[in-house]
Amino acid sequence: MNKQLVALVIAAAMISCTKSAAEPVIPPLSKAQLVYENIMSRRSIRAYKPEQVSRAQLDTLVQCAINAPSAGNGQSWQVRVIQSAEIMEKIRAINPNFSYGAPTLIAIAKDKKSGISSADCGFLTQNILLMAEAMDLGTVVLGNMGGIPNHPDAQDIMAALDLPDTHEIIFAVAVGYKDEAPEARPRDASKVKFIE
Ligand SMILES: Cc1cc2nc3c(=O)[nH]c(=O)nc-3n(C[C@H](O)[C@H](O)[C@H](O)COP(=O)(O)O)c2cc1C
Repeated sequence: MNKQLVALVIAAAMISCTKSAAEPVIPPLSKAQLVYENIMSRRSIRAYKPEQVSRAQLDTLVQCAINAPSAGNGQSWQVRVIQSAEIMEKIRAINPNFSYGAPTLIAIAKDKKSGISSADCGFLTQNILLMAEAMDLGTVVLGNMGGIPNHPDAQDIMAALDLPDTHEIIFAVAVGYKDEAPEARPRDASKVKFIE
């Protein structure tokens, strides 16, 4: 083989190598696998790094939240994403461990007059938890946020949240970068029965 031919063969081999390397060799995960893995890997996170979550990340969480199902598409919730350092400070002053150090809180408020609004808020919240997990962000639901409005020092917080009189906080979700990796808590499968 002359030198030119050798060079041509090597060049052709390199091109074909580059081409095959760019092609996926591992089949993509199925949608079911991705959803299953995401649900099973989510944990309540109670230790956070101080880095703030970006507005773009929160916009994604909010989009997912409001695309949850709701009774009659009533969307009976009100949602307040709290990133203000001043308001977070005031919340922590009421209870230092309140947000477990997470830099962002999402307060979820239910319609006081609607019996189904709690369920609507639950579905909305689960979308936040699962999308956050998919984005490698930690979350924990904080039922005790419901007590904040009754605290004597909560006036500034409640004024900033600007909730309509029709709504009250049901819980909040702490959001931030995880600083722990807890084990899964046990689940009781005996509560589920199949009627066949
Ligand atoms: C409505 C609700 C309220 C909760 N309130 C709190 C809370 O105030 N503080 C807390 O640390 N965790 C709270 N959690 C988180 C639960 O403790 C947690 O989901 C449960 O132990 C299961 O653990 P996992 O989320 O890691 O699977 C709450 C969860 C829900 C759904």
